[in-house]
Amino acid sequence: MPVQIFTVDGHPDITAALAGRLEAETGCFELRRFPDGESYLRIDSDVAGVDAVVVCTLDRPDPKTLTLLFFASTLRKLGARRVGLVAPYLAYMRQDAVFRPGESVTSRHFAALLSDHFDWLATVDPHLHRYDSLDEIYRIPSEVVAAAPALAATLRIHSDALLVGPDAESEQWVADIASRAGLPWAIAKKTRRGDRDVAIELPELDRSVRRAIVVDDVISSGATMAQTLTALTRLGFDSSLCACVHPVFAEGAATAIDAAGATGVLSANTIVHPSNAVDIGPALGDAAARLNGG
Ligand code: R5P
Repeated sequence: MPVQIFTVDGHPDITAALAGRLEAETGCFELRRFPDGESYLRIDSDVAGVDAVVVCTLDRPDPKTLTLLFFASTLRKLGARRVGLVAPYLAYMRQDAVFRPGESVTSRHFAALLSDHFDWLATVDPHLHRYDSLDEIYRIPSEVVAAAPALAATLRIHSDALLVGPDAESEQWVADIASRAGLPWAIAKKTRRGDRDVAIELPELDRSVRRAIVVDDVISSGATMAQTLTALTRLGFDSSLCACVHPVFAEGAATAIDAAGATGVLSANTIVHPSNAVDIGPALGDAAARLNGG
């Protein structure tokens, strides 16, 4: 079955890996905004009977989501046999419970929207905290690619460093990377007081180690990284590097992390960012091929 890839937003290396693995052609389309902010979309390729794959990473998700829904509906209307979604960063995974009465559990509503429009979903390390798997909220088949093997291969050279996870959720990623890279690890305790306000409490650490790498799934406001770096410096660590899967980097994040003394940031290319150091494209290509039946 012919496959066509439509990249709405994604790292070019990911699109290239998908195209190679799926033996896919690049789909042609025109997408632009009218002066009033509404979207114009025209799909130029002949998609009748084709398996279409839409690539769209979902940081800053609100404007992209409507585009994605239009994309899926239009591809189907034009006769696409199936429409899959590769979302290297999957948004709206963090509100997974009602913390204050009346709150929207947006992870569920977002999952319902995407499940209504796409046939399958491939993503990288979604923020699974209170859900065990995407199947709890997504009604479509999905594959989760782990960035740990690729991150571990990159971090392995820092053989004198301690990996530090800033909170309980990070243990799943930190422990996996540490065991693959053969590095020691520790997990801190985080209390979130606001969107950009967190407190970090480090556990007892081996004082003979002088370098740390703080590892988290997402860097958003940068507060978690910055406060962890500050706590490590207070404890006498000489230098600390940051590593994450998804470099969301909301406004002010880079400044906050620099000010806290980071010696560098490494990330996977789930979102295009200067810190990208790990290519997740080949693993996503394999996941997409399995979901597309190849
Ligand atoms: C949340 O638990 C995540 O694992 C990250 O720690 C969090 O998203 C980081 O957010 P921020 O950069 O805004 O502190």
